[in-house]
Amino acid sequence: MSDAVFEIDPDIRLARTLPARVYSDPDLFRAQRDSVFARTWQYAAHDDLVKVPGQVFPFTLLPGALDEPLVLTRDLSDQIRCLSNVCTHRGTVVVEGAGHEQQLRCRYHGRRFTLDGRFHSMPEFEGATNFPSPADDLPQVGLGAWERFLMVSLAPAMPFEGRSRRCARVSPDFRSMRSPTTRRGPASTS
Ligand code: FES
Repeated sequence: MSDAVFEIDPDIRLARTLPARVYSDPDLFRAQRDSVFARTWQYAAHDDLVKVPGQVFPFTLLPGALDEPLVLTRDLSDQIRCLSNVCTHRGTVVVEGAGHEQQLRCRYHGRRFTLDGRFHSMPEFEGATNFPSPADDLPQVGLGAWERFLMVSLAPAMPFEGRSRRCARVSPDFRSMRSPTTRRGPASTS
């Protein structure tokens, strides 16, 4: 892909339609996926889907682009989390459907996690050395909220709060962007 594709003239009168290959080049698609979609804040769900402690909601982030299995949880301390939904044992999807859970349990070999993603237990691993380690926890994914819309980012180029301050300068509608909250008040999750 030539650099010319990305040339943008500040003079709008010189604007041209993008070449057709911008929409079909697999290399450009991968570059956009990794440097744009993975690094920006994307809509995930309305917070009604995780309204009460113990509620879980699995989803795929940007199907066809990022295809990342994630799960929203409201943990037992009333905090909303977004976690990787890929088991840290052999990579199976952990939560297969929305519902209410005390813990997250992988159906493949029974590994259990708390609702904030920490490893809890695994059958027949009692004698394992150097186990568990932090690598056995489900990674938390960056999470923010605008009003009641939950936004996530796999590798945010900018903290959610920084983005909300910038948006608030141009539109009062964005003033209520924040980290997801308990019903008692704000708390950071990323
Ligand atoms: S893949 Fe989840 S416990 Fe083995």
